Amino acid sequence: MSERKQKRRQTRDIEQLPAGDRASRNIYDIYDEESPIAVEFRRAYAKLSYRMKQENRRCFLFTSAMPGEGKSTAASLMALTIARYRNTKTVLVDADMRRPSIHRMFDLKPRHGLSEALLGEADIIDTVRDTRYDNLKVITCGKHVSGPTILLQADKVAEVLSELKFYFDTVLLDTTPVLPVSDAAQLASETDGVLFVVMAGVTQRDVVQRATQILKDGRVDIMGLIVNNASQVLPYYYSYNYYDYKY
Ligand SMILES: Nc1ncnc2c1ncn2[C@@H]1O[C@H](COP(=O)(O)OP(=O)(O)O)[C@@H](O)[C@H]1O
Ligand SMILES: [Mg+2]
Repeated sequence: MSERKQKRRQTRDIEQLPAGDRASRNIYDIYDEESPIAVEFRRAYAKLSYRMKQENRRCFLFTSAMPGEGKSTAASLMALTIARYRNTKTVLVDADMRRPSIHRMFDLKPRHGLSEALLGEADIIDTVRDTRYDNLKVITCGKHVSGPTILLQADKVAEVLSELKFYFDTVLLDTTPVLPVSDAAQLASETDGVLFVVMAGVTQRDVVQRATQILKDGRVDIMGLIVNNASQVLPYYYSYNYYDYKY
């Protein structure tokens, strides 16, 4: 692709949009298959899928140190990438019971979802929602609960995840940040690994270290680091980048 064409494409990327627009746009509008972001996510998935096959891992959680670093956007983009390029059944679950956003990303009206399944009020399979892609399904957060940490601790979580792993090839969970609340670290120990989102130029190194240490202390494997270039401190083609996890 010529540089001019690439630049034009880039203007359609989310970092070019005013904040108001970003918030109101759903992921289908944001996702452009030929954009640098889509390319990065395909690369990230190629790396991840290699380890998925080698190590038989199929259930991943997206988190970050702090709110607003791009977890839900990254989880949705990864879910779309898998659905578009692999013919495997994928489900994206909104497990952020404090600031749920997956229903908005996928243009769905809030309905019963994960919280009802964990409370034993619905079967998790009955909470699965269709998206525009046949092989991508979504489970929204469900009704507001006053004690999400307790709910996410229950044995029911393992039961729900193993049921989802029975029906789907890949299970992705979008959740809360690690530092303010313990939901993500608890939930992560029930998954096959974490994809950790860092906002380039914003997230402080010691904050990232503290958050990743909490996960490691919980014996959680960090499978990859997704560097979100929302603040544009990196060249544009780093819009979203993914590195093997190392310090
Ligand atoms: N690369 C990016 N460029 C521009 N805006 C972004 C980018 N990533 C996320 N955002 C915006 O920042 C806000 C927070 O992102 P979100 O994915 O909801 O973060 P989190 O789930 O970590 O709280 C949203 O309005 C989202 O559209
Ligand atoms: Mg979020």
